[in-house]
Amino acid sequence: MKNDERIESQINKLEEKYKNSGQDLSSYLDGLLYQRYLTYWDYIHLDTLLSIQVPRTHFPDEEIFIMYHQITELYFKLILHEQKQIVEDKSQDLSFFIEKVNRINNYFKALISSFSIMIKGMEREQFLRYRMALLPASGFQSAQYRMIEIYSTPLENMVHLSERGQFSEKHDIEELFEHIYWKKGATDLTTGEKTLTLKQFEFRYTPRLLRIANQVKNNTIYHKYLQLPESSRKDTALIKSLKDLDLNANVNWPLMHMGSAYRYLAKENKQVDATGGTNWKDFLPPSFQKIIFFPTLYTEEELDSWGKQWVDHIFNPEKKQ
Ligand code: HEM
Repeated sequence: MKNDERIESQINKLEEKYKNSGQDLSSYLDGLLYQRYLTYWDYIHLDTLLSIQVPRTHFPDEEIFIMYHQITELYFKLILHEQKQIVEDKSQDLSFFIEKVNRINNYFKALISSFSIMIKGMEREQFLRYRMALLPASGFQSAQYRMIEIYSTPLENMVHLSERGQFSEKHDIEELFEHIYWKKGATDLTTGEKTLTLKQFEFRYTPRLLRIANQVKNNTIYHKYLQLPESSRKDTALIKSLKDLDLNANVNWPLMHMGSAYRYLAKENKQVDATGGTNWKDFLPPSFQKIIFFPTLYTEEELDSWGKQWVDHIFNPEKKQ
């Protein structure tokens, strides 16, 4: 096709498009004439992105802390982007499911391998000072982290381990939500008083998290797996991807994260209080919380030893995992 024929055909198609929505092509062509060329920095909103690292103290390493949290939240957003597509998919297509879960695993792998930026990349002395200006904020208040959990598995799998057996899918979402593991972690068990960190988080996010939990009731990623035809459910590639996701989200990332708590907050026989006010040595180990998104994929033995490698990780760091 010659160039002017091509342009004529494009104009015809445009005319058709704008006519169909009651619009005037000629006005839009004027707009095209006056429009500036797109630039890289406008397209990705670079100036905005680079303007939101705002330290609260003068310690240089605080900026690393802020940026790495922001980077992590962007990865969380990528993870949620894939999770939403799995949950909304009606096709039950096996390769689609595997592809999406593999993408999520890739994001988690990037987060896990980059956590050394936190563990090794800041001066402890600086950290211990600037963190005092951040009270009572804590990564505990990451709503996207909670959303990733809610999309993955029904709430009864996230009830605190001490009460998990007493709850099932028959309970209301609201009731299950009250007994979720992280609420207990941030509650004084003798007085029943919630930490300020938890109270503020609940005030800001409870309606949103409950709305999502109700939306994905009977439709989490775990349900999506269970609803597949039997042949797909037995697919070894899918099972491996889902188990990897469980391990990445509930053991490997938490272990790397806990490594930073040990580096900065553990000291000989005493520990420094966390900004979120949890008893973090009890709260953070994956083997204590035993959050497992897809429990029927494991043997009894695997369930029992869930997250046990943290013992080696912390107490025998030389031992090969
Ligand atoms: C030096 C680096 C870090 C330290 C020392 C640290 C420490 C802690 C501690 C002690 C807790 C328990 C809650 C509390 O009492 O505050 C916690 C929770 C949490 N932090 Fe961090 N954190 C660090 C970096 C990060 C980063 C980069 C993220 C990424 C968003 C993050 C996300 C979280 C999340 C999601 C929780 C809740 C975990 C759960 O409920 O299982 N943290 N952190």
